Amino acid sequence: MRYDYPVNFLTYLCLFISCSLCEILDNWPVASNPIDVAMRAQRDVARPVSITQLTNLGIASSGNLFEKEGYTQSALLTLETALTVGIRTVYIDLYWNEFTREWQLCPAPFPSNASSSSISVQEVTWKGRKYKCQGDMTVQSLMQTFSSYFASTNTNLEVNLVTMLFRLNSISISDASASNSSESTNIYKNPPIKNLGNSTLNECISPLNTYLYKPTNIHKSSTSGGVSTNTSRSDFYNRTSGDFPTLDTFMLQDYKRIIASVVENNLKPSKNSYNISATDKKNFFLSSENFDSEIASSSNSSVLSRCQALLEDTKSNKSDSFIDIAEETRFRYIVDNDQDRFTNDSLRDFLQCGYSPILNASSYITYDDERADTFAEVVNNFLPQSLWLWDPKELTRENSVLWGYLAENSTDKHIAFRCVALSKDGGIIRNCYEKYHYACKNKEMPFSWKIDDTDQLAYFEANNEDACPKGYSLGTPSSSIELLSLMNYLYSENIDFPVWIDLNDITVNDCFVTGGPYAKCPYQRTVSKRKLVGLIAPSFVVCVVILFLLVLEKFFRVNPIQTNRKRYWRKRINEYNKIHNYEGVPS
Ligand SMILES: *[C@@H]1O[C@H](CO)[C@@H](O)[C@H](O)[C@H]1NC(C)=O
Ligand SMILES: *[C@@H]1O[C@H](CO)[C@@H](O)[C@H](O)[C@H]1NC(C)=O
Ligand SMILES: *[C@@H]1O[C@H](CO)[C@@H](O)[C@H](O)[C@H]1NC(C)=O
Ligand SMILES: *[C@@H]1O[C@H](CO)[C@@H](O)[C@H](O)[C@H]1NC(C)=O
Ligand SMILES: *[C@@H]1O[C@H](CO)[C@@H](O)[C@H](O)[C@H]1NC(C)=O
Ligand SMILES: *[C@@H]1O[C@H](CO)[C@@H](O)[C@H](O)[C@H]1NC(C)=O
Ligand SMILES: *[C@@H]1O[C@H](CO)[C@@H](O)[C@H](O)[C@H]1NC(C)=O
Ligand SMILES: *[C@@H]1O[C@H](CO)[C@@H](O)[C@H](O)[C@H]1NC(C)=O
Ligand SMILES: *[C@@H]1O[C@H](CO)[C@@H](O)[C@H](O)[C@H]1NC(C)=O
Ligand SMILES: *[C@@H]1O[C@H](CO)[C@@H](O)[C@H](O)[C@H]1NC(C)=O
Ligand SMILES: *[C@@H]1O[C@H](CO)[C@@H](O)[C@H](O)[C@H]1NC(C)=O
Repeated sequence: MRYDYPVNFLTYLCLFISCSLCEILDNWPVASNPIDVAMRAQRDVARPVSITQLTNLGIASSGNLFEKEGYTQSALLTLETALTVGIRTVYIDLYWNEFTREWQLCPAPFPSNASSSSISVQEVTWKGRKYKCQGDMTVQSLMQTFSSYFASTNTNLEVNLVTMLFRLNSISISDASASNSSESTNIYKNPPIKNLGNSTLNECISPLNTYLYKPTNIHKSSTSGGVSTNTSRSDFYNRTSGDFPTLDTFMLQDYKRIIASVVENNLKPSKNSYNISATDKKNFFLSSENFDSEIASSSNSSVLSRCQALLEDTKSNKSDSFIDIAEETRFRYIVDNDQDRFTNDSLRDFLQCGYSPILNASSYITYDDERADTFAEVVNNFLPQSLWLWDPKELTRENSVLWGYLAENSTDKHIAFRCVALSKDGGIIRNCYEKYHYACKNKEMPFSWKIDDTDQLAYFEANNEDACPKGYSLGTPSSSIELLSLMNYLYSENIDFPVWIDLNDITVNDCFVTGGPYAKCPYQRTVSKRKLVGLIAPSFVVCVVILFLLVLEKFFRVNPIQTNRKRYWRKRINEYNKIHNYEGVPS
């Protein structure tokens, strides 16, 4: 029986290795929050699109978060939660303190009679306004918040792109001396809390170094901007994305997570002011130089009316306007304020027009009882609205199929409620056997759709030759502007909703994929810890080979070579047993 020892040992080794592999394969979450599922699906359909075309929800940190919770460490925890639930753009006000010559988040300088405890939350006054600030809530700690969020979501399942937009402001010496005598300016020169800021922008962002997509990265990944003769659909964005990569390249080839850009520079010119250095420019994009962006205001009526025209005028063929918007490769944001706050509907409209809405109003009345909502309530209210691909009703608990079939004891589980159709409000989940029209997308031009208004087919027939006209195939909108172009087409041709789009989770629950009914969920093959799999896979192969040899050995024991090997093993085992004082009678 002794020979079994090495056999068993190897078997266990193999089992161990293959099980550790199983564990990695198993990391597909079993029961997920429908918003996470919906966001992942939306991220995945947008992968071929240039990152300039992505639309998602953002917050202005000062107006929404810090003014309410104070410039405190606890507000940073709230921020991290906001990132976790799905905030993808953060607008940040940075203050250059001319007295200490350091960057800070608190809009007021600390006076010399302030508490020397860096963790106490103090009330500080500047230019007649009061702020609640904590000394150690520094720009560095803000960056560390982002860094820890990125570290905890750096898997294929969870990666995403976050954009940081900065507005630079001055805490100016001249403001102090204007309102008061020179002696009062001195009280800010020596705050009791020392060295709590960095003196350059570049140092401020250093905790994000590995995740940051820098201006110097452009040249590396931007074969994408180059000339290509390929005219496939995904190539449209390769040709038009300019200096910026597609989402897929950004996340999964460059392995980046964030872009930082200075979009507004309000620094007061003075001898104590801050000059953006060449080193800063290696890390930050500047809207004035290499970050083409529009930061519109919800109060700008011309933005609103242009958006309304895109949404409503269904008579005219707007195909060219959509292409223009996509080819402009401009990051588009719209920021609201206390006069013109976003509502569910206006936020969704702006999103459809290709703007990422940034929540900046100090309060929203999202519930009927007229109380001002907390930050969490505001984010929870708008998040379902911000997923352009989906009908928001599908993402809230009431009458949602997505919720229904994710629920453990759902009775719908066995029905093929797994294919996505487009209603007038966005994607909804439908039984794949239902018969609808197909949204056929041009294979070369992403904004060109064709729908045969006679035939209605089940989703399972997507691979039929005649399901779509020549040059077209069942398609999915990859951006909110692409969705708008499809909506525009549906309205202009008077086609009934819903229509099938190419998205389903037939093979793996919650894993929405494009590519027809037989498309596989990609996350079981190229799992999160890509490198780990890379390491384990060869040993797994070796294991299989060894197991195979062991089986062979069992069958061909008469083989003289095997007999020799057996003898060799026996010798080895006896030696081993002697050394380790194992008892037993060698056979
Ligand atoms: C610091 O002094 C100013 C007056 O110079 C006063 O208004 C303020 O309350 C003082 N702050 C603290 C923390 O004592
Ligand atoms: C600022 O200086 C003015 C006189 O220049 C004085 O009246 C006022 O009290 C001072 N304010 C503070 C807060 O010290
Ligand atoms: C930036 O400031 C932090 C303290 O806020 C300090 O720990 C860090 O070393 C500074 N970074 C650089 C590059 O100076
Ligand atoms: C688009 O560009 C990326 C990176 O440059 C490349 O990997 C990808 O194959 C290109 N796609 C097409 C369709 O050419
Ligand atoms: C364009 O790229 C796609 C996918 O990358 C490929 O299938 C197709 O054959 C290419 N077409 C041309 C004309 O090179
Ligand atoms: C910033 O640059 C301006 C002009 O280039 C110069 O006059 C000023 O002294 C600089 N400020 C600092 C703080 O270096
Ligand atoms: C409104 O937006 C348009 C472009 O969308 C811009 O040209 C104009 O300057 C904006 N108006 C204001 C007051 O900002
Ligand atoms: C709209 O115009 C584009 C060219 O500008 C054309 O290719 C497309 O077929 C037109 N669509 C419809 C529905 O007429
Ligand atoms: C946010 O709103 C406030 C006023 O409500 C305004 O002063 C501020 O500039 C806004 N922020 C941005 C980024 O537009
Ligand atoms: C806005 O949408 C949220 C869900 O995203 C919903 O709970 C809320 O009732 C809606 N508010 C209004 C006024 O319709
Ligand atoms: C499943 O059913 C049990 C009892 O019928 C109920 O308590 C539980 O909340 C249900 N679970 C879900 C996820 O609906």
